[in-house]
Amino acid sequence: IHSDAMAEMDQMEFLGNLILLIVGGNDTTRNSMTAVAYGLDLFPDERTKLENDPSLIPNAVQDIIRWQTPLAHMRRTATQDTVLEGQQIKAGDKLALWYLSANRDESVFGADADKIVVDRPNARRHLAFGHGIHRCVGARLAELQISVLLEEMAKRRMRVNVVGEPERVAACFVHGYRKLPVTISKY
Ligand code: HEM
Repeated sequence: IHSDAMAEMDQMEFLGNLILLIVGGNDTTRNSMTAVAYGLDLFPDERTKLENDPSLIPNAVQDIIRWQTPLAHMRRTATQDTVLEGQQIKAGDKLALWYLSANRDESVFGADADKIVVDRPNARRHLAFGHGIHRCVGARLAELQISVLLEEMAKRRMRVNVVGEPERVAACFVHGYRKLPVTISKY
């Protein structure tokens, strides 16, 4: 906030940053919270593990964000010709980075990559926050939000039960939910 870069922002840049913070921080975390409800209901053995051992919460947060991957991809433009995994890439080519696919990579996450595993040893290796200089600036805040949600649920011994199919967002960028009917119970 007190850096030269911030002090010298013109109004449009300031507004752009503000909108990015509001938009970037909104449906990503909301859809991760829905993944807490939907995903833990889908994998009840994992939910039981978490309910019996709340010290697994920080790792579970990582695997829930990996499993959901609230933003399916970002796009980059190649600055120079190169070859990647045998593919010719020319300067100016546009490349889709499918975080959703990387986060289901069996060679990294194993045969159960499609599941939430609350004690998955390498859950932190996901790419849901992107990679490189533009990696999500709100990643720590997002992780904190999901952790606090799970901690408060654990304190109250609160369980969210899914009682109908989710209605999904029909988009290839935002990987999220419009609606998920649930009931709340105690365990
Ligand atoms: C689970 C929640 C979230 C996910 C999955 C997520 C995902 C991402 C991804 C994939 C990118 C692009 C990375 C890249 O291009 O390499 C990004 C950038 C960004 N995110 Fe998040 N995000 C989340 C939460 C948040 C929150 C809570 C905030 C702010 C309060 C936020 C603010 C931003 C901003 C400002 C950028 C742009 C960073 C830049 O271009 O340098 N995000 N996020």
